[in-house]
Amino acid sequence: MRYLITGTAGFIGFHLAKRLLDEGHYVVGFDGMTNYYDVALKEKRHAILERSNGFKAVIAQLKDRDALDKAAELAEPDVIVHLAAQAGVRYSLENPRSYIDSNLVGSFNVIELAARLKPKHLLLASTSSVYGSNEKVPFAESDKADEPMTIYAATKKSMEVMAHSYAHLHKVPTTAFRFFTVYGPWGRPDMALFKFVDAIRKDRPIEIYGEGKMSRDFTYIDDLIEGVIRLMAVPPDEANRITSDTYADTLSRHAPFRVVNIGGGQPVALMRFVETIEASLGKPAIRKMLPMQQGEVPRTYAAPDLLIGLTGFRPEIDIEVGVRRFAEWYQEHY
Ligand SMILES: NC(=O)c1ccc[n+]([C@@H]2O[C@H](COP(=O)([O-])OP(=O)(O)OC[C@H]3O[C@@H](n4cnc5c(N)ncnc54)[C@H](O)[C@@H]3O)[C@@H](O)[C@H]2O)c1
Repeated sequence: MRYLITGTAGFIGFHLAKRLLDEGHYVVGFDGMTNYYDVALKEKRHAILERSNGFKAVIAQLKDRDALDKAAELAEPDVIVHLAAQAGVRYSLENPRSYIDSNLVGSFNVIELAARLKPKHLLLASTSSVYGSNEKVPFAESDKADEPMTIYAATKKSMEVMAHSYAHLHKVPTTAFRFFTVYGPWGRPDMALFKFVDAIRKDRPIEIYGEGKMSRDFTYIDDLIEGVIRLMAVPPDEANRITSDTYADTLSRHAPFRVVNIGGGQPVALMRFVETIEASLGKPAIRKMLPMQQGEVPRTYAAPDLLIGLTGFRPEIDIEVGVRRFAEWYQEHY
């Protein structure tokens, strides 16, 4: 199959492209190498992908529609996966406009491209942040998700609804995944696991927000990629509408469009996460307890039923195993 993937120099896009290339597929990767975090790490990820003959890179920003057209010509994609975004909850307080540029305008450009190319399936990365501070857990896709706490969450929810309108107008089957705190080797330097491992190894204090009372539903990268790949094979269609007494299918009545959580439904308390990292490094952290940050949510907790119903798969790798694999990668890499 032929894929156009945006964000291939990023953490998740790299892993997805690598797996597809290893399986013999053809991938065009589109990435602007933004300087939100260490560009050298992004270049190393792309250098690994470039070892495969089936990989071609287009380095450009999502606002550059000519570059997107060029990528489309190179790819002639069966499937488009849009992962490029300005990610991060905290940075959205500092630089909100970059979220508008990448996640609203940039995502719209990709959705428009898909309307013209008519791939078999368009898949877009959304986030558990769209659930905001919902108190009902676990978070089900059919729950209300229109009280975002940050502009990051607001742009991702907006991308979902823009994509619904285009799925209706142009009939491109579209799946929006909601990812839950993804972690693992080649992970992002702005995320807690990377920052904690780095600080502990350098004898610097780790900053624990919310006085440690938060919890997150972590998803190990290999599990996430498995979920993404299985969902690729289930473009939203009346033929695969799920009827269940216990959970709702989000397949739209008006468009080939569906929202699906990718998360295991096993939230981990922040302090257990810290202890797991300490155990894997064999070294205690210097803990600096801090109040909850603005825009932060107390918990994330995925209902995985729809993912399981559609794919038979549920993320399963334990936090202990996943953190150990990250720590091994980090020690080897740095
Ligand atoms: N990692 C997580 O825990 C998580 C959780 C929820 C949702 N997501 C979403 O999953 C997707 C991938 O996340 P990630 O963790 O791999 O992030 P990442 O930052 O590692 O990767 C994103 C990539 O997109 C590129 N990019 C950003 N803006 C761009 C633009 N305007 N034009 C071209 N390229 C641009 C960056 O250079 C980067 O390589 C994102 O859409 C993110 O919002 C991630």
